[in-house]
Amino acid sequence: MIYSDGIKIIVADASHEKYVDLILDTIREAAKKRGTGIAERTHEYVATKMKEGKAVLALDPGVQTELGEKFVGFSYIETWGNKSYVTTSGLIVHPDYQGRNIATRIKDHTFTLARVRWPHAKIFSLTSGDAVMKMNTALGYVPVSFGQLTDDNAFWRGCQGCVNYPILEMKNRKFCICTGMLYDPEKHPSEPTPLKVFEEIIDEMKQRGLKVEN
Ligand SMILES: CC(C)(COP(=O)(O)OP(=O)(O)OC[C@H]1O[C@@H](n2cnc3c(N)ncnc32)[C@H](O)[C@@H]1OP(=O)(O)O)[C@@H](O)C(=O)NCCC(=O)NCCS
Repeated sequence: MIYSDGIKIIVADASHEKYVDLILDTIREAAKKRGTGIAERTHEYVATKMKEGKAVLALDPGVQTELGEKFVGFSYIETWGNKSYVTTSGLIVHPDYQGRNIATRIKDHTFTLARVRWPHAKIFSLTSGDAVMKMNTALGYVPVSFGQLTDDNAFWRGCQGCVNYPILEMKNRKFCICTGMLYDPEKHPSEPTPLKVFEEIIDEMKQRGLKVEN
């Protein structure tokens, strides 16, 4: 989907693997600046998300770089607890493009993808970022205690790269610096996802032969 300011937001595929190292570097730089840790992901992990149609990429076709269209932003989805929970993760917008509503557009895409592929899954977020909390709230997430999030150890292992991990461990995973937020589909019966985003994503994914259903 190309927005009126020329920024393109798409579900990534295998052809976008060339952006992975830049994405990971941008995430690392941002975490350093914020003084937080991150759930460190490998090149292979992120590339696989792209190949599986579980990643969203923002590009600027108006600026060419050695990789092609300039990298603007990124996020991906992950499932936990046998697909009963989904997270939208790794949200990053390049510093040159922040404050232009791009994270909101990426989040609309990842949220829609999550709702379409796992309509009965709860979508949650563990964040200390104001921007993410605002976007989550706008989409219908509410703050919850950690007990309402997944108990999948694989998810919580992702916190090990965070500077605050010792606090999480000390509190037996019940509390930490981050706020847990949850979107429970049962509390939003027949609520449409951001509709225009939904229709365009699905059409485009089908045209490119990407998996649409779970
Ligand atoms: C956080 C980040 C993704 C926001 O991207 P962005 O494209 O600038 O965000 P948007 O312009 O779509 O803004 C979304 C909302 O968050 C608010 N917002 C954006 N940056 C904010 C900040 N630093 N502090 C408080 N609110 C902020 C915006 O005002 C907007 O709210 P509104 O709709 O009520 O006006 C971007 O700054 C970034 O990549 N930061 C580094 C990585 C990071 O912190 N990732 C989040 C991990 S939890």
